[in-house]
Amino acid sequence: MAKSKHDAIERNVFLMIVLTLLAVSVGGLVEIVPLFFQASTTTAVDEKGDALDVKPYEALRLAGRDIYIREGCYNCHSQMIRPLRAETERYGHYSVAGEFIYDHPFQWGSKRTGPDLARVGARYTDEWQRQHLLDPRSLVPESNMPAFKWLDRPLKMADIGARMEALRVVGVPYTDDEIANAPAAIADKTELDAVVAYLQGLGLALRNVR
Ligand code: HEC
Repeated sequence: MAKSKHDAIERNVFLMIVLTLLAVSVGGLVEIVPLFFQASTTTAVDEKGDALDVKPYEALRLAGRDIYIREGCYNCHSQMIRPLRAETERYGHYSVAGEFIYDHPFQWGSKRTGPDLARVGARYTDEWQRQHLLDPRSLVPESNMPAFKWLDRPLKMADIGARMEALRVVGVPYTDDEIANAPAAIADKTELDAVVAYLQGLGLALRNVR
């Protein structure tokens, strides 16, 4: 029986590797590259193309976000609501790509020891958030969230402007004024103020859509 071309490929491990890599690369590029150009993933729009009110994090919220990352809040909290009934009933509208265009790095996550935080903004009062971060069990007795007592200290982030400049390099449209005014905007604040400001703004863009 004459050997087919397929036979030749399957019997030559190097040819097989090269062709497999080629197939995977082409497949990957076809899936990934369009995302860089698709409006729903690069601009603040929802899946129907309707504009969302998503703005770059102002200085205080950006500082809060960096503290959120520093403290490892993402180890217990995701920020991505999946399009499943059980999730949308509990947390609100499922997350869409356009909500995260200024998130570098994004905080989607998949580990949920605590609830998803994608739409926690404005769900509680500032006072509740402060108290909860300092002593979670004073509000939720069964909580196993750690108490972040040390957050109640002055916010020292002398490089806030540089952080904003770095984000500008990857496409966040901060103006020179915003960067110049950043140190003043976070002066006299505590780390707690920053984290609460960050949390209170999360997910507001689709808050009233069901
Ligand atoms: C060890 C896991 C763990 C870590 C780390 C953690 N949390 Fe939590 N968090 C929880 C759990 C569990 C709950 C639910 C019980 C409660 O409300 O305290 C929760 C609840 C919350 C809530 C209320 C959410 C809601 O919808 O009711 C917020 C806000 C929150 N955490 C913010 C944070 C922030 C900010 C950090 C980092 C500074 C953090 N958490 C770190 C476990 C964690």
